[in-house]
Amino acid sequence: MKKLDTRKIRSFKKTAKLNPMQMLTCYDYQTAQMLNETNLDLILVGDSVGNVILGYEHTISVDIETMILFSKAVKKGAPDKFVVADLPFGTYASMDLGLKNAIALFQQSGVEALKLEGAYPHQLEIIERLTQTGIPIMGHIGLTPQSVHEQGGYFTHGKDDSSKKKLLKEAKDLEKAGVFAIVLECVDEKLASLITKSIHIPTIGIGSGTNTDGQVLVINDLLKMSKNPPPKFCKPIADLYSTKKTLIEKYLK
Ligand code: KIV
Repeated sequence: MKKLDTRKIRSFKKTAKLNPMQMLTCYDYQTAQMLNETNLDLILVGDSVGNVILGYEHTISVDIETMILFSKAVKKGAPDKFVVADLPFGTYASMDLGLKNAIALFQQSGVEALKLEGAYPHQLEIIERLTQTGIPIMGHIGLTPQSVHEQGGYFTHGKDDSSKKKLLKEAKDLEKAGVFAIVLECVDEKLASLITKSIHIPTIGIGSGTNTDGQVLVINDLLKMSKNPPPKFCKPIADLYSTKKTLIEKYLK
């Protein structure tokens, strides 16, 4: 399968004929090697590395050095995939910080694009500057875990009129600022569908129903690699936590 690029991704709008674009997170070299051999469309080195791999409570604790380290490993294992890496909390709080950190992560990891959360005016300006610098940016609205304290917890967004209006405007603003795709996390299903129809770039949903152009999941949730249950919207296709535990117990006998 040919590697995707931003031109192909930008023009991907799901129609009755097309399967949704599929993105999975990945955090390590060996898993990246495996994903590189599959038909997966996109890999995300999410700042969820903080919760999933490093045992942090929030993604807020993840810093730029961590993202560079893990993104480098994933890109090394998946040279044939379009890899997106998250800009972590606080690293794009101003134009200067955003430029410095985005250039460091993009240049040192070799990934094809970066993702950042939010669509406030200063973030739109940073996105515009980064895309003009040659760094493709994926947007992310709805539940944005880096703002969990500011948003007041983890919940579905876009249920009331003002939240609906805000999210629709944010999606249009992000498209105008130059993002090539937008993650909709925990957005009301009907609104996710409306946003998808209202913009020309693909939407990639997580916990936002099936009417988006693509879907993204945390690979550790999909394969149930954790002791804890995955979020409700993810139906695991395996239980690798139990499988690995059983194998180790057998080995130890
Ligand atoms: O960090 C992450 O894994 C993400 C996805 C949940 C979209 O941002």
